[in-house]
Amino acid sequence: MKAASRAVHAGRELAARSPLAPDISPAAVHVYTDLDDYEAVARGDRPGHYYGRNSNSNRSMLEQAVAELEGAEAGLATASGMAALHVAILALAPRPVTIVATRELYGGTLALLRQDLEPAGYETTFVDMTDLELVRNALDGAGLVLVETITNPLCNLPDVEAIAALARERGVPLLVDNTFATPILFRPLDVGATAVMHSATKYIGGHSDLLAGVVVGSTGAISAARARSVRTGSTLGPFDAWLALRGLRTLDVRMRRHSDNGIALARALRGIPGVAAVYHPCLEGSPSREVALRLMPDGTGGMLAFDLEGGRAAVQRMMSRFRMVTFAASLGGVETTISYPEITSHRGLSPAERAELGVGPGTVRVSAGIEAADDIVADFAHALAN
Ligand SMILES: Cc1ncc(COP(=O)(O)O)c(C=O)c1O
Repeated sequence: MKAASRAVHAGRELAARSPLAPDISPAAVHVYTDLDDYEAVARGDRPGHYYGRNSNSNRSMLEQAVAELEGAEAGLATASGMAALHVAILALAPRPVTIVATRELYGGTLALLRQDLEPAGYETTFVDMTDLELVRNALDGAGLVLVETITNPLCNLPDVEAIAALARERGVPLLVDNTFATPILFRPLDVGATAVMHSATKYIGGHSDLLAGVVVGSTGAISAARARSVRTGSTLGPFDAWLALRGLRTLDVRMRRHSDNGIALARALRGIPGVAAVYHPCLEGSPSREVALRLMPDGTGGMLAFDLEGGRAAVQRMMSRFRMVTFAASLGGVETTISYPEITSHRGLSPAERAELGVGPGTVRVSAGIEAADDIVADFAHALAN
């Protein structure tokens, strides 16, 4: 089955008289009449649900669906992307290790590493994941590698295939945050990653109306992650699981439109006066173009960024002139939104640290939505006109 069909059908079996759209099961607990039956279900020897923190039918459907799409044995859904990342790291590296992480990490992930894991004894080595020699050197003595498929905000693509090969050579597990690409555009497990996590808040949900996370991988890794999630209670609620699965059903068509709109807008921005630089992995001249064409031949989604001459004042002027596009500090929804990394994703960094990553006062990140490309381009052209 192709990904488009899998997105529509994954995660459940329909039989005669099944509701075509899944029922929502809000029950915190299920009733049992037989102690042996309860024990068998609680042990996992028999299918069923008994307590909502352990499992729930809506959550199970979402977990299975994302696992199927990513080509994984098993999945676990959590209350947010951060919860998924946390349990994924602890499942792959339960004791303090050195984590080799991408230098251009999502700000929340950086905070988790620095403020929660480092005090617990973990160490972090930050490297530019697009430089394979640096990655190779950093792997010595490391216990985990953490990569984002598309970096934030400048949209570079590390060669996950090559990084997976290096990590495998050294026996170091590789965890990939595949939030920006989704399994429609790239499946990290196919090229050798150990586990994959998502902020399902973004493209998987797709409508900016839920918070959720998913981690997928081998049965062993996911049962370790699940046990920890159950103990610490980072459980995804049934309604959000239902919404995320509803969003997932249209993921294939949305990702194709996001990809088309993203590159169309990137190309158009290049011709607009006042735009000093445009960052999109598929743009002619992008340092990530070769990796993008090889690893994501169907497109790279809706994420791009650009630098505006005139810094913050110019960004504010553009925002005030938009007729359709809005500012919102998230991404992956159906609407085109912009974010301003200096005060959103990268606010925790010093100006010097931001400058080192190429994020300046004129840097704008765009999440291209699924509106008509012409309308998106026209709104930016209007907002940036003199
Ligand atoms: C790449 C990436 N990973 C993880 C997260 C965290 O996800 P959540 O906000 O669902 O906890 C985000 C959120 O912006 C993200 O962009």
